[in-house]
Amino acid sequence: MIEYFPITAAIAPDGKITLGGQNLDDLARSWGTPLYVYDAATLRRQVEILRRSLQAAYPGPSQVTYAGKAYFSLRMARHLAALGLGVDVVSLGELNIARQAGFAPQRVHLHGNNKSPQELENALKWGVQAIVVDSLDELALLEEIAKASGQTGRIWLRITPGLSVQTHPYRQTAHPASKFGLPIEDGQAAEAIHRAMGSRWLHLTGLHTHLGSQIFELEPYTRAVEMLCELARGEHFTPEDLSPGGGWGVRYVPEDSDEPVEGWVSAVSQTIQEQCRLAGWPLPKLILEPGRWLVAEAGVAVYTVGVVKTAMDGTCMVAVDGGMADNPRPALYQAGYTARLIPGPQRPPGGGDLATLHKVTVVGKFCETGDQLIPEVMLPSAQRGDLLVIPVSGAYHLSMASNYNLAPRPAVLWVDNGQVEVLQEREDPSAAGWWV
Ligand SMILES: Cc1ncc(COP(=O)(O)O)c(C=O)c1O
Repeated sequence: MIEYFPITAAIAPDGKITLGGQNLDDLARSWGTPLYVYDAATLRRQVEILRRSLQAAYPGPSQVTYAGKAYFSLRMARHLAALGLGVDVVSLGELNIARQAGFAPQRVHLHGNNKSPQELENALKWGVQAIVVDSLDELALLEEIAKASGQTGRIWLRITPGLSVQTHPYRQTAHPASKFGLPIEDGQAAEAIHRAMGSRWLHLTGLHTHLGSQIFELEPYTRAVEMLCELARGEHFTPEDLSPGGGWGVRYVPEDSDEPVEGWVSAVSQTIQEQCRLAGWPLPKLILEPGRWLVAEAGVAVYTVGVVKTAMDGTCMVAVDGGMADNPRPALYQAGYTARLIPGPQRPPGGGDLATLHKVTVVGKFCETGDQLIPEVMLPSAQRGDLLVIPVSGAYHLSMASNYNLAPRPAVLWVDNGQVEVLQEREDPSAAGWWV
């Protein structure tokens, strides 16, 4: 067990790391770097913890739904579908992957603040669990599309309670200035419920909110649930489905909270039960929609160290062969990470001195000064050819990755009990037609 790493990770005295029964050195040699590796056992454990917490805390029906935006690819989606999860998709691309991967439409819902008519048509036609309507404008558009195609559809309304949470401003989604959802404050949310309940084509089954991401506070969640229920009561709407979204945080660095997820599940569950008692409603289906909490810790990023140099101000720079193209989070949100160095083959037997640590900055290879993966971290003296492993890399890296500087997207592996599966092949910039 290595702190922050997937549960199957182990470290040998010579600094070599294994994951899912596989040596990261061997994987890096076979598939090259940057390389992303997902540990199946860690993902399964997270799903299990969430399911058990729901069973313990909520006597009504419930569903664990994975937020596809955290990381999605066809092969990953097949594993997620096999685990019996639902999925939240936000584009035609994600919708198609969910369909190909074998998700039943009754377990899929479509989000987005500006869905295209094509996305709405496809979701209606497939008969998804819910299209999560984000605005009065979208409600009118969807009604038109449904009517024109003669197809009825189930919807939820995404409600904006106007609550701020303690996270990076770019990760807040339910504050008063949010681009997402129907505000309660000015009556848009009530108006949407009223119109949806009167629709011939749309069947309103639930209410949804999502406060943001990397959150460790309970109070905004319980308040949001209360506000959704008060809103529904005011409009004489009894929700069959209720979703407080996702957003529960994970620990990337020592300063991060380690509040357990059970507290979140229990607080939300209790509030829903209290609200249902008050309103005289049967318990709705509670849909939790985490992305980060399910996959972040399952994934690690593996890089090869190249240039090691000292900047003019004395900072020791360790440059790796990836960076902001595969992980834009530090540049976007000043996201923090830890790292481990695996000594390369150029080192003496035993890996040399791994005990003496130095303060370094880990930078990427891209043409931006903001391309710093870790501004400050203590590492053994790094050399060209070492591997640098960054844990908690499973969420919002590859799904937000780019081809900046025409960098190929990395290979992605899934390790499970000594078995390796390629989730995504590395892009090949020398392949004919790669970038035309
Ligand atoms: C609507 C919605 N649900 C769920 C999530 C997942 O959030 P997280 O990965 O923080 O759990 C997001 C991400 O921002 C989202 O927008």
